[in-house]
Amino acid sequence: MDTINRSTKISIIGMGYIGLPTATMFAAASYNVKGFDVNKRVIDTLKRGKIHIVEPDLQGLFKSVLDSGNLIPTDTLEESDVFIICVPTPFKEDHEEKFADLSYVESASREVGKVLKRGDLVILESTVPPRTTDDIMGKTLEEESGLKINEDFLVAHCPERVLPGKILHELRNNDRIIGVSNKKAGELAKELYSSIVTGGNIYLTDTITAEMCKLVENTFRDINIAFANELSMICDELGIDVWELVQLANKHPRVNILSPGAGVGGHCLAVDPWFIVEKFPKTARLIRTARETNDYKPKWIVKKVVEDIQKTFLGKKITVGVLGLAYKSNIDDLRESPALEIAKELKKLGYNVIACEPNSEQSEINSIANLKLDELIDHSDYLVYAVPHNQFKDGYKDRIKQKPFFDAVGEMK
Ligand SMILES: NC(=O)c1ccc[n+]([C@@H]2O[C@H](COP(=O)([O-])OP(=O)(O)OC[C@H]3O[C@@H](n4cnc5c(N)ncnc54)[C@H](O)[C@@H]3O)[C@@H](O)[C@H]2O)c1
Repeated sequence: MDTINRSTKISIIGMGYIGLPTATMFAAASYNVKGFDVNKRVIDTLKRGKIHIVEPDLQGLFKSVLDSGNLIPTDTLEESDVFIICVPTPFKEDHEEKFADLSYVESASREVGKVLKRGDLVILESTVPPRTTDDIMGKTLEEESGLKINEDFLVAHCPERVLPGKILHELRNNDRIIGVSNKKAGELAKELYSSIVTGGNIYLTDTITAEMCKLVENTFRDINIAFANELSMICDELGIDVWELVQLANKHPRVNILSPGAGVGGHCLAVDPWFIVEKFPKTARLIRTARETNDYKPKWIVKKVVEDIQKTFLGKKITVGVLGLAYKSNIDDLRESPALEIAKELKKLGYNVIACEPNSEQSEINSIANLKLDELIDHSDYLVYAVPHNQFKDGYKDRIKQKPFFDAVGEMK
């Protein structure tokens, strides 16, 4: 392939949260796109014109590219010019340490290797530990196809940094970092992504730097939050208000401490730093400590809440109401959520736990009743303010204050 043009055939491997919007955007930019997934149910749903993920504005755009024939969902991978791999990279199960499970990247690379031809470009978008693009994807492609990287085909890593709920906007407007195997791969990848990244810039680098770039963005945030969370525990021992301390320290022109909270959740910040620790267990000491500090924060909150309840209620069996279960404010995402962990742990300890997660329609979340805020306050003996959702802020402070409470987010001052 010498250049990218609208007759360039693109195959997306993995039609989930990342692959489906990406396939839809390339199809909307008038490319011929095949959307491949091993999950037949996903493909059947897409063929019927429905999307299987929740993402604003995607359904309409997806339907229009499906109807125009630019996007074809398929469970068979065929020859293409460009392959974009968007498969999951969770932690390994049954493994004590938090190591990346790269079996999906490997199996997707194997599928691509079977249909790879000279001149093709294979791009990995999944979040991966450093060297995965070359050592896992590249080697598997070579093994399966009998072709050679750079001599016969090209590889790139273009990590995805979109925010669920704003994926289409961010695909158009976020800057993209693309790590490439050589100059030609850079030219092609840049040309390709320029057709969807209309409001951002594209920066080229090598594959390892691109892999690390995605990981360090989230690690930087994780470390900064860990500092705030550690301060909150130190201030508790000192008997001073951490939020006041942070506010005053931030008066310094070059200090910007984040707000402490219930911990760190979601599937990026709580996951990606481990992909660095896995590769550099001896060197990545600060990164590991930050992860452990943030993981410890919900456990510390449970300990404080239990102490407080025992002091206040003298062993009586009480109902604890948890304000917010999502992993951060104003979303409904429960993945790796510290607030949910707090609620589950208190339940395990024998308390009757109820919650209010106002962004979820479910009446029960992990066997915990999800009530309206008024009901939650009425039915609770003790409240844990775990997530600073907007819905909790207006006019509820005084009502919350009528009950004994633990404030994990600094909203009750
Ligand atoms: N979801 C996000 O907001 C987000 C943001 C940034 C980065 N990422 C990263 O992007 C990657 C993909 O995440 P996602 O959220 O889209 O995952 P997902 O689980 O929503 O979708 C992945 C899809 O890949 C399919 N799949 C698995 N193995 C396959 C194979 N061998 N061939 C074809 N299809 C296969 C699955 O059936 C599934 O439909 C991950 O590495 C993730 O960390 C995700």
